[in-house]
Formats: sequence, C-alpha cells, structure tokens
Amino acid sequence: MKNAALIERLISLARLDYDVMCAYEEAIRRIDKNDRDVREHLIQYRNAHAIHVNALSTAIVDLGGSVPALSPEARGNTSQGVVSLTNASGTTAALQALRQNEIFIEKAYDSARSDPEFSDYPFDLQEHFKNFLVDEEQHLSYIDSALKFLAAAVR
Ligand SMILES: [Fe+2]
Repeated sequence: MKNAALIERLISLARLDYDVMCAYEEAIRRIDKNDRDVREHLIQYRNAHAIHVNALSTAIVDLGGSVPALSPEARGNTSQGVVSLTNASGTTAALQALRQNEIFIEKAYDSARSDPEFSDYPFDLQEHFKNFLVDEEQHLSYIDSALKFLAAAVR
C-alpha cells in the first residue's frame, strides 16, 4: 500500500474513531444517574477512543499526511455507520446504540488488519491496530454483558 492510500485509510479510521468517541460522550450524559459502574466503564472506553484518535493522528503526520479537522460539527459526513444517540434515553438505549457503533468500528479495524499489505505497514501502526482490535473486543464484550444484566434486572 502506498503512503497516500494508507494515509486515506488512517484518516477515515481517525474520523470513525472520533465519532465513536463522541457517541460515548453522549452516552455518558444520557445513562441513568444510578448506573455508576456503567458510567465508569463508558468513561474508560471514551478515553480509549481518544487515545486511538491521537495515535492515528500521529501516524498520519509521520507518513506525511495532514490530520483531518475533527470536531462535533464535522460529524456525520464521513462515518455513515456510526449511530447517533440523539434519540437514546436511558442506559439500555444508550448501550444499544454504542453496541452498534462498536460492531461497526471493530469491523473497520478487522478489515485493516486483514489488508494483504498489513505486514508492510509501519511497525508502530501494526501494533496499534492489534491493540485497538483488542480494545474494541473488550468494549463490545462489556456492553453485551451490561445489556444482559440490565435485561435480567427488569424481569
Ligand atoms: Fe470501542
């Protein structure tokens, strides 16, 4: 993969990861106040996504690219698969929206990881992708278990 194509891929992933981070921000504001354990996890995962965005931004610059303007106003243009939490009210609805986003971003990193030219990526970047995938699997796993717990508690 030439640098230009890789930079494009990284820009797209940085936007996606940023949008997912924003969805966590929204979720943290919308979950029920009493769900403190869920809130702590969501803050931790929001921070993980911020770390991803920073690492991707550094990689883009290292490859000679320009980091895209990332702001809440710029959302929705590029990350078509990211679910907004505008209509989510309460912990279950917020977690369900986050779950969709985690499935989406996990696929994006899995696809990058499956690139036939992955072994030609800079070493740091290969490590980042492996670590990010582990993060996404962990986020999704927690969200699934929290949703199951909430569903059982309602019965
Ligand atoms: Fe995640």
